[in-house]
Amino acid sequence: MVIRKRMWIHLAVIVILTFLGSGFLLWSLLVGTPEQPIAFSHRVHVEKHIACTFCHQYANKSPQAGLPGVQLCMTCHQVIKADSPEIQKVRAYLDQQREIPWVRVYGFPAHAHVRFHHRRHVAAGIDCAKCHGNVGQMTVAERAVRHTMGWCVECHKQNRSRFADPRLATDCLTCHY
Ligand code: HEC
Ligand code: HEC
Ligand code: HEC
Ligand code: HEC
Ligand code: HEC
Repeated sequence: MVIRKRMWIHLAVIVILTFLGSGFLLWSLLVGTPEQPIAFSHRVHVEKHIACTFCHQYANKSPQAGLPGVQLCMTCHQVIKADSPEIQKVRAYLDQQREIPWVRVYGFPAHAHVRFHHRRHVAAGIDCAKCHGNVGQMTVAERAVRHTMGWCVECHKQNRSRFADPRLATDCLTCHY
């Protein structure tokens, strides 16, 4: 009896500690706002009318949208706000010929073996905001839309007619490899 009681207390302590310890991680996973190496604000840039595809150059060309290289940042920031401490950090990456280690916001677990193709969706006239929320208003990019399987399949069902073969819309191998 005593042993069992202790075991439960131990278990409870472990559960509580794990819960507290992973609290922040959980929170950031759920809300999807990672701590980034540079205080980059989408809002500041999008308000200056810089197009999404100016920085995410492959969104309308390739499967992956791509993130801008530090070189692209410095084409503007060689001059703009060059004295700002945050820009000095950006420059340091360029000087060391390192890319800024951005923390990913979106992405699928590798074991889910999902394939996604930006160009196909952008060419089909689907707006970035439909899948990413209003990024232009975000100071820190966050996961505004949950990319679950149900979410993908729902839209594919509604758009069956736009697939070369309507059966492909919900075929497992359309989205999985
Ligand atoms: C097309 C030009 C352009 C590019 C490319 C660009 N920026 Fe900017 N950035 C701006 C402008 C304009 C501002 C606003 C400056 C102001 O407030 O007057 C700005 C502001 C910033 C600020 C705030 C600086 C401060 O102290 O107020 C940071 C940080 C920043 N940019 C980082 C980046 C990073 C990192 C990249 C590359 C991923 C990048 N920028 C690419 C034009 C650009
Ligand atoms: C000046 C360059 C710039 C512009 C313009 C820009 N972005 Fe970004 N974007 C970045 C950088 C740098 C990151 C990585 C840092 C971060 O996540 O905030 C990023 C991250 C993202 C992410 C998260 C990527 C991930 O990690 O999964 C999305 C989604 C995104 N941008 C969408 C957009 C959309 C939509 C627009 C237009 C409304 C846009 N961006 C305009 C530079 C830019
Ligand atoms: C139909 C939905 C959809 C549309 C439309 C869409 N995206 Fe995405 N985006 C995704 C998904 C899903 C991912 C995650 C892909 C992965 O992890 O393989 C993603 C990832 C990203 C990333 C992370 C980096 C990368 O290389 O993939 C960026 C940046 C991004 N999108 C920007 C954009 C921009 C900019 C637009 C508009 C020009 C756009 N997206 C349109 C669904 C979409
Ligand atoms: C808002 C609607 C919408 C959402 C959300 C969406 N798709 Fe699609 N998807 C489409 C449409 C429409 C097409 C057909 C585009 C075309 O080829 O003209 C398509 C095509 C595709 C294709 C190419 C199929 C082929 O014929 O080879 C793949 C792969 C794909 N989607 C995967 C995904 C995945 C994975 C997700 C979720 C992460 C997703 N899609 C979310 C609308 C959507
Ligand atoms: C329109 C795109 C799409 C289609 C069609 C689709 N899936 Fe998925 N599936 C996804 C996405 C996206 C995920 C990952 C979701 C996430 O990360 O939450 C996923 C996740 C899964 C997972 C969980 C994988 C893991 O390890 O986490 C399984 C199992 C799965 N799909 C099986 C299937 C089967 C079986 C079919 C055919 C009946 C199918 N899927 C059709 C998009 C699709």
